[in-house]
Amino acid sequence: MSDLSRIGVAIEEDLLEDFDRLIAERNYPSRSEAFRDLIRDALSRDSVPAGDAAVVGTVTIVYSHSTRQLADRMTTLQHAHHHEVLSSLHVHLDHDNCLEVIVLRGAYEQVKLVADSLIAMKGVRHGQLVMATV
Ligand code: NI
Repeated sequence: MSDLSRIGVAIEEDLLEDFDRLIAERNYPSRSEAFRDLIRDALSRDSVPAGDAAVVGTVTIVYSHSTRQLADRMTTLQHAHHHEVLSSLHVHLDHDNCLEVIVLRGAYEQVKLVADSLIAMKGVRHGQLVMATV
């Protein structure tokens, strides 16, 4: 670990109470550790890797399988990007809704393209890409 610096942070009482609740929920050993994780998370979300940087990621999508041709379009897209798509998990949530988790690996630009294309498909109700550089 690099050398530690101490900083003072002024924060509203109610915001601090919410923060302490979050710390308790997530079982952080200290405010400092929670604070460091929040900073790391914000930094990694804002930093865009180079287009050819090697990344891994998961796309989680929730969609209605009754949307016309959606399942077919998703399968076609995944076959077109079979180099990036490592695996997928499908869960039938209820009568209409499906949850799918797709594991991707490849160049940042390609992984982002596949994820964005899936999430943007008509009928996808929720979609999120979580990515890490490797
Ligand atoms: Ni299903």
